[in-house]
Amino acid sequence: MNNNHHQPDTQPVIQIQGIIKTYHLGEIELQVLRGIDLTIQRGEFVSIMGPSGSGKSTLMNILGALDQPTAGTYYLDGTDVSKLGERELARIRNKKIGFVFQNFNLLKRTSALRQVELPLMYAGVRGRAQKARAALEAVGLADRVNHQPSELSGGQQQRVAIARALVNEPSLILADEPTGNLDSRSGKEVMQIFQRLNREQGITTVFVTHDPWIARHTDRVIMLRDGSITADQRIKSPLDAATAERPTEAAELHEVLETAYNGVKTEAVS
Ligand SMILES: Nc1ncnc2c1ncn2[C@@H]1O[C@H](COP(=O)(O)OP(=O)(O)OP(=O)(O)O)[C@@H](O)[C@H]1O
Ligand SMILES: [Mg+2]
Repeated sequence: MNNNHHQPDTQPVIQIQGIIKTYHLGEIELQVLRGIDLTIQRGEFVSIMGPSGSGKSTLMNILGALDQPTAGTYYLDGTDVSKLGERELARIRNKKIGFVFQNFNLLKRTSALRQVELPLMYAGVRGRAQKARAALEAVGLADRVNHQPSELSGGQQQRVAIARALVNEPSLILADEPTGNLDSRSGKEVMQIFQRLNREQGITTVFVTHDPWIARHTDRVIMLRDGSITADQRIKSPLDAATAERPTEAAELHEVLETAYNGVKTEAVS
């Protein structure tokens, strides 16, 4: 939605204010999100961290227009999402948002090419096969277009899911623990793709991770605890997924101890 009052560059992709989500379980009221304010600008690469049950997926579902908040406002690309009905929500999801899930959510016995064509079919786009092929190429799967999920590794399946999320050229990619089910090498490949899409195509990306090392590849880390944002920090020099090597666990522990006991030298335990 461009108008003369907003530069496309300065209008945030996500602008939420006072988001509350409450679940009712019989008599019990459970407030899962307790007043979240968050602005994400176009081109940002953001990770959301926080303990299990802190509300990360609940927040992602609201950001993805899969679920409505109990209270608060959400502007997605300038559109007030809370005012939309189910049909309009479905349309906005298809047009503006690409989703990537921890468990890939691919269809069984369906080729990679076909999986990636599906969102284009829903959107009624022409030239589907060609666009789907290009998206698969962009994630390094040009030679796997006819493979079914059972014929692909976990990392490759996740890359099909990323191609599917990309193919409609969304303004926003939302990924809930996209590397959660991957071994570290596949996780690294997937991070490389997200990083490249963000840096080269400026795709706004928000993802949830439990892994601090993965989070260090993004530009901004948001911490959620008990339904509130408790920290929101920029990463000064994000790691480069193509070159960064995950430290050994011993080195990682060493660094944690160094930081935790600020200034106190520790010796590696052998
Ligand atoms: N449909 C629901 N009805 C009732 N309570 C729910 C519902 N969905 C989630 N919750 C509760 O909301 C809280 C937050 O859940 P959420 O899935 O957002 O956590 P999370 O931060 O994504 O955790 P994890 O890291 O384990 O994925 C949890 O305590 C959960 O039990
Ligand atoms: Mg979750």
